[in-house]
Amino acid sequence: MTRGMFIAFEGGEGAGKSTQARLLAEALRTRGLEVVVTREPGGTPGAEAIRALLLGTAGEGWHARAEALLFAAARSDHVERLIVPALERGAWVVCDRFVDSSRAYQGGGLGLSDAEVRELHRIGSGGLLPDLTLLVEVSPDVAAARLDLRDAGNADRIGGRDAAFHAKVAAAFARFAEEEPARFARIDGDGPAAEVHAGVMSALGGLLP
Ligand code: TYD
Repeated sequence: MTRGMFIAFEGGEGAGKSTQARLLAEALRTRGLEVVVTREPGGTPGAEAIRALLLGTAGEGWHARAEALLFAAARSDHVERLIVPALERGAWVVCDRFVDSSRAYQGGGLGLSDAEVRELHRIGSGGLLPDLTLLVEVSPDVAAARLDLRDAGNADRIGGRDAAFHAKVAAAFARFAEEEPARFARIDGDGPAAEVHAGVMSALGGLLP
């Protein structure tokens, strides 16, 4: 059995990652592939329980290391119980956010070092990385308009952090893509969903069966 491919979507808030993950999964299924669509934090009952803690009010006042440990713990459960078994049976896994979100938010945004975030990932998830990470980038006004529609002023605990925080997150993502061009594809997310999807499919190019 050939191992499945692991594709992650990354980007800031309101980039349209979830829509693109769904469209990609549909396109892969029409090619006869088994596809598991999942998200972080979450994806398994244990990780969804940690998600509720992380994004709800219970997390007010946690420091950056506590937050990073919880994301790593949620990811560990997700990788062991859902992602690795799916890949091993030959399914493709399409994941809305993965470890690069921890590197960008808890690293770039909250100031943990990249080495610390990677070390947590090594301990929790054996350092597993996606075969390809699609970084969906949108201009700040497009993101703001989409978030107004989606959240109507009720952003979660992390999404609701200030513009300076989100600018650091976006800069960190851009830096990762520059540092590892073979692992990342940068997708222009400003256009309509169908146009962005076409960009996703062309970025996948060589990986498609
Ligand atoms: P979600 O509603 O899934 O956000 P979005 O739709 O914008 O992707 O909430 C996930 C939030 O958690 C989002 O603000 C990003 C943040 N996050 C981290 O800070 N670190 C991480 O490792 C992950 C996976 C997410």
